[in-house]
Amino acid sequence: MTFKPAAWPRKLRSQTWFGGTSKDNIYHRGWMKNQGFPPDLFDGRPVIGILNTWSELTPCNAHLNDLAQRVKHGIYEAGGFPVEVPVFSTSESAFRPTAMMFRNLASMAVEEQMRGQPMDGCVLLVGCDKTTPSLLMAAASTDLPSIIVTGGPMLNGYYKNERVGSGTHLWKFSEAVKAGTMTKEEFVEAEASMSRSPGSCNTMGTASTMASMAEALGMALSGNAAIPAVDSRRRVMAQLTGRRIVQMVKDDLKPSDILKKEAFENAIRTNAAIGGSTNAVIHLLAIAGRAGVDLTLEDWDRCGRDVPTIVNLMPSGKYLMEEFFYAGGLPVVIQRLGEAGILHKDALTVSGETMWDQVKDVVNHNPDVILPADKALTQSGGVVVVKGNLAPKGAVLKPSAATPALMTHRGRAVVFEDIDDYKAKINDEALDIDETCVMVLKNCGPKGYPGMAEVGNMGLPPKVLRKGITDMVRISDARMSGTAFGTVVLHTSPEAAAGGPLAVVQNGDMITLDVPNRSLHLEVSDTELAARLAKWQSRIVPPPSGYALLHHLHVQGADTGADLDFLNGGRGNPVGKDSH
Ligand code: FES
Repeated sequence: MTFKPAAWPRKLRSQTWFGGTSKDNIYHRGWMKNQGFPPDLFDGRPVIGILNTWSELTPCNAHLNDLAQRVKHGIYEAGGFPVEVPVFSTSESAFRPTAMMFRNLASMAVEEQMRGQPMDGCVLLVGCDKTTPSLLMAAASTDLPSIIVTGGPMLNGYYKNERVGSGTHLWKFSEAVKAGTMTKEEFVEAEASMSRSPGSCNTMGTASTMASMAEALGMALSGNAAIPAVDSRRRVMAQLTGRRIVQMVKDDLKPSDILKKEAFENAIRTNAAIGGSTNAVIHLLAIAGRAGVDLTLEDWDRCGRDVPTIVNLMPSGKYLMEEFFYAGGLPVVIQRLGEAGILHKDALTVSGETMWDQVKDVVNHNPDVILPADKALTQSGGVVVVKGNLAPKGAVLKPSAATPALMTHRGRAVVFEDIDDYKAKINDEALDIDETCVMVLKNCGPKGYPGMAEVGNMGLPPKVLRKGITDMVRISDARMSGTAFGTVVLHTSPEAAAGGPLAVVQNGDMITLDVPNRSLHLEVSDTELAARLAKWQSRIVPPPSGYALLHHLHVQGADTGADLDFLNGGRGNPVGKDSH
């Protein structure tokens, strides 16, 4: 893509606050000077907001204050004026009912912080799962020059000398306790070994996936995604990012110059190659919705089809992000897509270079971590989109995390009306279920949970686990943690709480999953299905007030990204009226 930098110098939006000698200018500038900023910082140089999602209750981002200082160094070095701004931080591990419910709120809050304050460009300082998409959504909506730097993944976990992946082993150990092959005491002992350093999840979970998506979209400097949080090169990346945003503002290089359809297609193919999280589907659809790019679920299936998963990381494979970094990281994967002829090589990036220019000379240092195509974990690694009378608007499945033998499966439905019903029944030895059944979980979608919790990979019943079985077909309108695995059909749309056919599945119905033919079929006649839907009544009670009500009334389906309907599209960055 050709990009023509804007002329420099020119008057920036921050000067409507800080430039001039009016009463308002003196008010805006004078109050800032109480922090000891020298007068020349207000002389028309780019003012850069460092949007910091630091929070001690977002443990994956708890080290970001240190990185913010490095970003500041870079901004000063390049002649900018950095201002650090705390923004809404969504913790995956602690936020109830689920961080996803607050992704849109965070994006809305950050968008207004960007637009309503004197910023000419922004560094998005993020890490934990929802912090990355929420700030990217805000940047797409305001279209202020923006660049991402992530906090980086934790170091490898080890327990009894074996690699332990964030999340992945939480699910594995939990199932092992249920199966009787691990004691509760060992489980507790393993806890500390999972999180041995600052940083985000060390698997190819949603945080690492979204860091990779940001890089593949062209919104982060090349190589950002995999550098461990505690590696000194993470600080270097932060400082270089600070330097770069100043030039982006001078050039007027905006998200709308980068977030084209081609960039999203590059990201979708990258997601297939890395065995990335299904959460990327929802987040990229939402970011595209803000950027005005026509991206659909069909694009996910079309672009991801036949892209081999070559990154041998948990939950699909064996290694962790630390080893991915040592092997060369995401640039090697993007280079491989280019060599395979499935990369939009001329896609523009925040560096001002094309994607291909950035990656064409990189080297793979470990072919057991970044595999040759003929040794791929799965030859068709892209997120699969299935449709049928059970999912008229689609549902997704991650083949690299699924059991190949279950990709075509017919089984009897065992239904859980909601997550509480599931929890009440799953450990009951009297539950009529075996490994051939299809577990169906309802009312866990965007409206239903609310917030679309990561419960789609519901654990198996103990009596099945004790047989040594580790996977069954599971269907829900929920999401699944990017660190999880299994033959799990997710994001079924429309969701049960919105009256989708999932709402009327009954115990004993037969369901056929046919991944090769992209089909999910409930073996109930059209007449019977229509009769059941006509009688259906939602069991969801709308929240009485507050953000929960706003979310309930306006959240859209997973098939279009689960954004709030009134946030679709961009609103730019007009400076607006002064308040004084
Ligand atoms: Fe924060 Fe996984 S819980 S990145």
